[in-house]
Amino acid sequence: MKAFVAGATGQTGRRIVEELIKRNIPVRALVRDLDKARGILPANVELVQGDVLQPTQLADAIADSTVILCATGATPGFDPTAPYKVDFEGTKNLVDIAKTKGIEHFVLVSSLCVSQFFHPLNLFWLILVWKKQAEEYIQKSGLTYTIVRPGGLKNEDNADGIVMQNADTLFDGSIPRQKVAQVCVEALTETAARNKVVEIVAKPEIPAQGFSELFTSVA
Ligand SMILES: NC(=O)c1ccc[n+]([C@@H]2O[C@H](COP(=O)([O-])OP(=O)(O)OC[C@H]3O[C@@H](n4cnc5c(N)ncnc54)[C@H](OP(=O)(O)O)[C@@H]3O)[C@@H](O)[C@H]2O)c1
Repeated sequence: MKAFVAGATGQTGRRIVEELIKRNIPVRALVRDLDKARGILPANVELVQGDVLQPTQLADAIADSTVILCATGATPGFDPTAPYKVDFEGTKNLVDIAKTKGIEHFVLVSSLCVSQFFHPLNLFWLILVWKKQAEEYIQKSGLTYTIVRPGGLKNEDNADGIVMQNADTLFDGSIPRQKVAQVCVEALTETAARNKVVEIVAKPEIPAQGFSELFTSVA
């Protein structure tokens, strides 16, 4: 297995890279700024400069990777097209190339509440709507996928247990990015994670469960 990580310099992406390296899975990281990436990512990661909005770059960027993990996300700001571009078009570009490259598994970091149009997060230029569109594009692509929908992301890890549920059943809560990264990476090897949408948060009163058990509990 060789993993291509889009959004690798991001707060979740860098933790996905870390979890892959911990499991001795070679990583090819798509980054927009090589200097920035060198300051963030470990030296044993292959860096490739590119942008998910430039599809012509992506086939070469993916090279001999066999799985893709996408943790890109538009930065909140004044460009009303940013979530459309990054969270939909960018992911769609990756999916299209993934199909031509015979990618074995596509893991997407999405979000809780993507099915709720009247959600405050949609005030950020309909970001949840565009994430949902990207999810649907993956689901129809024929690729093997796992769509991971986390609650509010936290940088600090903790000892809370992971709650994993079916699509459109969790509506609030938070989770450390490290745990999101673990779920994404474990999905690559868990048969029960294939072609599923999983919603995740973390709670102190929840006992720790194995990933197999968590993925199996979701339809
Ligand atoms: N914040 C939350 O509470 C929350 C909750 C649920 C879900 N999410 C979702 O979870 C995901 C990860 O969030 P995060 O806060 O960890 O991410 P983040 O730190 O904002 O990182 C986003 C990453 O996307 C990259 N990116 C943006 N546009 C790109 C483009 N055109 N081409 C290639 N890369 C591009 C950024 O690259 P640069 O480093 O070059 O800018 C960065 O690496 C996002 O999809 C986010 O919407 C967030």
